[in-house]
Amino acid sequence: MPITVKSPREIELMTEAGRILEIVHNELGKALYPGMTTKEIDELGEEIIRSYDCIPSFLDYNGYPASICVSVNDEVVHGIPSPHRFIREGDIVSLDAGVIYKGYHSDAARTHGIGRISKEAEELIRVTRECFFEGIKYAREGNHLFDISAAIGRYAESRGFGVVRDLCGHGIGTALHEAPEIPNYEMNRKGVLLKAGMTLAIEPMINIGGWEVDWLDDDWTVVTRDHSLSAHYENTVLITENGPKLLSLTDTSEI
Ligand code: MF3
Ligand code: CO
Repeated sequence: MPITVKSPREIELMTEAGRILEIVHNELGKALYPGMTTKEIDELGEEIIRSYDCIPSFLDYNGYPASICVSVNDEVVHGIPSPHRFIREGDIVSLDAGVIYKGYHSDAARTHGIGRISKEAEELIRVTRECFFEGIKYAREGNHLFDISAAIGRYAESRGFGVVRDLCGHGIGTALHEAPEIPNYEMNRKGVLLKAGMTLAIEPMINIGGWEVDWLDDDWTVVTRDHSLSAHYENTVLITENGPKLLSLTDTSEI
């Protein structure tokens, strides 16, 4: 599949999809408390998404059974919400969500600490976020796609963290996953030239320990092989003539 360049009208719709997803994440972030179940997080997320006349894009995607991926501690991504799984003080919880607004997708993830968390966990969450911002420094017309990848990987490794290699970011638009794949580590080729109008979901997944991961028997949940903590941070990004525009993060006090 070729990489799509979006028209102004499509960009308008994706901008709205991103804005709504930002609200979903802000609301979910505020709602977390020790003792909440991961299923309650999912239900609240779905309710907020639907209240904006959007569709939760993850629900039934390749059979995924929920609207929000909730991944706790050593779970990297795609944790399945459960009424039996309680989040606790000291946990780190990655929330990944996607919405469809009038046929257009946005995709974003945040990692939250529950109550007081360890210094190491705090650093992991911060560095994962910083990896994203390092990466998007290169998300400019005329650069190559894998400039973003290399910047993310370099930054994480300079902090001694492991970079997940089995999962990547991706193009996004009328489908959740469009071309191209966006690795979070250095490639030995350059990747495509970036053009204004491309929309990319850039999503570093970073581990305190090694990069290796395993899939649990539920066929979804990805965990770190060494059971070290893992964090995830993602936004839907538009390449413009003036650099990257974050569609799922407009509150600049956040940057
Ligand atoms: N945000 C995830 C991604 O970018 C999507 C979750 S997969 C799903 O690939 F099945 F849960 F939808
Ligand atoms: Co994604």
